[in-house]
Amino acid sequence: MRNFTEAADKVEFLPELLFTGHGESVARIGVKPLVIFKPNKIDESQFRRVHRLRSQVQQMRKDGRPGGPEVGVAGVQRRGFGPMMPGVFHAPFPDCYRCPIGRTPDDCAAECLDFIENDLLVHLVSPDEVAAIVIEPIQGEGGYVVAPDQFLQRLRELTRRHGILLVADEVQSGMGRTGKMFAIEFSGARPDAIAVAKGIASGLPLGVAMARADVMAWPHGAHASTFGGNPVACAAALATLKLLRERLIANAADVGGHLMAGLATLADKHPLIGDVRGRGLMIGVELVRDRQTKERAGRERDALVSAAFARGLLLLGAGANAIRFSPPLVLTREEADIAIRLFDEALTEVENSLR
Ligand SMILES: Cc1ncc(COP(=O)(O)O)c(C=O)c1O
Repeated sequence: MRNFTEAADKVEFLPELLFTGHGESVARIGVKPLVIFKPNKIDESQFRRVHRLRSQVQQMRKDGRPGGPEVGVAGVQRRGFGPMMPGVFHAPFPDCYRCPIGRTPDDCAAECLDFIENDLLVHLVSPDEVAAIVIEPIQGEGGYVVAPDQFLQRLRELTRRHGILLVADEVQSGMGRTGKMFAIEFSGARPDAIAVAKGIASGLPLGVAMARADVMAWPHGAHASTFGGNPVACAAALATLKLLRERLIANAADVGGHLMAGLATLADKHPLIGDVRGRGLMIGVELVRDRQTKERAGRERDALVSAAFARGLLLLGAGANAIRFSPPLVLTREEADIAIRLFDEALTEVENSLR
C-alpha cells in the first residue's frame, strides 16, 4: 500500500487507500466514508449533520448524461435502476461551449458556480446539510467536457468555507491520461478524496478510493469487497504506476497536444466539427449541424464512428454528439497522425453523404 502512496506522489495529501474491483464501487465508496463514517473525532453538531444527512451528496453532471447508476443522472443509465439514492442534487456542469444555464462562454464558469452558491445551496439544500460534492474534473460519458480551472478553484473555496468535502471522480480522467497524474491538478484545487479505476491497472479490474486520513476513519469491517485489492491487479497497477512516472504521463502530454492540434486543424475544413477540447490524451470532438445554432449532430456522430471503424480507427461516442479520443498512453506521434488522417477521411465521407 505504501508503494501506491509513494508512487502517486502528487497525492501525498491523500494517504488513505481503499481497494475495490472497479470504478463504480469506488465512486460510491468515495462517498461512503466521507458521509457515513466521517471522522471519529467530530463534534456533536457535525455528527448530527453526518448522521441525519448521510446521503446528502451533490453530484455535478450534465442533465441527462450518464454516470455510475449508483449516484447517476436521469437518462438511459438511470432508467430501470430506481429507487435512486435519496438526497442527491445535481448541478449544471460548466460546459462553456454550450452553457447549460444559457450564459456566454466567458461568463459560463462563474455563473454555474454562482448558481450552486446562490440558488442550489439557498433554495434546495442548506450548505450545512451537504456532506460532499462529487465532480469529474473532465466529464467522461457526459461528452469529454473540461471544467474550467477557475470553476474548480471556486468550488474548492466554496466547499472549504462550508465544511463540505470535495470528491474528484477521476475514474476516467485520472492515471496520467491528461498529461498529469490527475486532471484536477491543472486547477491547483486539492480535493479531499479521489476515485480512480480504469487505467490504474492497465486493463485488470481495480478501483481505488483515496482520501485524507481523517475522513477515512472506517470502523473495522465497515466495508467489504470480494475482489477488491486482488494481488494480480495490484501488481499490474504498480507496474502501470512505474511506466506512468517514467514516461507515459509525459507522453500523454506530448502526443495529446499533437493530436489535439491536428484535430483542431481539421475544423478548418470540416463544418461538422463544432468544438475540439480536452487535455493530454483525453480529447473530445463535438459535432454540430450548424456552428451558429450548435444543433447537435447525433446521427452524424454515429455515422462517423462507423466510417472510422471501416478504416481501422476505433472511436467511441461520448454524450449525445461528441467523439472521444481516449487512446492508450503509449500512442506515438506517428500513430496519432494516422488517426488524424483516417478521421479526416471519415469526416469527408459523412459530410458528402449529407449533401
Ligand atoms: C467517471 C466515471 N466514474 C465511474 C465509472 C464507473 O466505473 P466502472 O465501470 O469501473 O464501475 C465510470 C465508468 O465509465 C466513469 O466514467
